[in-house]
Amino acid sequence: MKKEITIGQAQKLTSPNPFCIVSSLKEDGSTNVMALSWWTYVSNHPALVAIATSNKGMTGKNILEREYFAISLVGEELGEAAFKCGTCHGTDCDKAAEFGIPLTKAEDEPVAYVDGARLNIICRLKQAVNLEDHSLYIGEVLKIYGDEDVAAVYAMNGYSTPGVIG
Ligand SMILES: Cc1cc2nc3c(=O)[nH]c(=O)nc-3n(C[C@H](O)[C@H](O)[C@H](O)COP(=O)(O)O)c2cc1C
Repeated sequence: MKKEITIGQAQKLTSPNPFCIVSSLKEDGSTNVMALSWWTYVSNHPALVAIATSNKGMTGKNILEREYFAISLVGEELGEAAFKCGTCHGTDCDKAAEFGIPLTKAEDEPVAYVDGARLNIICRLKQAVNLEDHSLYIGEVLKIYGDEDVAAVYAMNGYSTPGVIG
């Protein structure tokens, strides 16, 4: 029998969902970090990725104003701390310092990202699409770092808890 469900219920059914930290630049040059599940690759040649963030948050404004962002797939030991980056806005606190997210960046890189992550993708904004409550930010991939020895963390039971598969 067919059962009609809401988009929120659908998002539970797709769980484990992808999960990453998105870092962006605040006006003072410091780094804001947010928890994010809605990211995807959208092109190989050129390499492009996309994220969808709420229009109420700080991250989207940072990206629109200062172009650069990074996607970091954190390891298991940072799962809980990374989830906490989804509980408040960068306008109210320094989340990386408060929750113990270690950041790194080479001198010639435009934005910091999570040190020791499984995957770090550094991006420059190519296009932004306003979609009412969220906006889609398509990023041109500038550099990718990867470490397959770091276990991938997913968002389990919708977006409730961090978990590792396998
Ligand atoms: C597991 C998890 C996944 C999340 N995924 C998203 C997402 O894909 N898009 C989004 O806009 N917010 C998402 N959030 C909520 C944001 O992290 C939250 O609104 C955050 O406070 C925004 O921070 P900012 O205002 O500093 O940008 C998620 C939160 C959690 C815990």
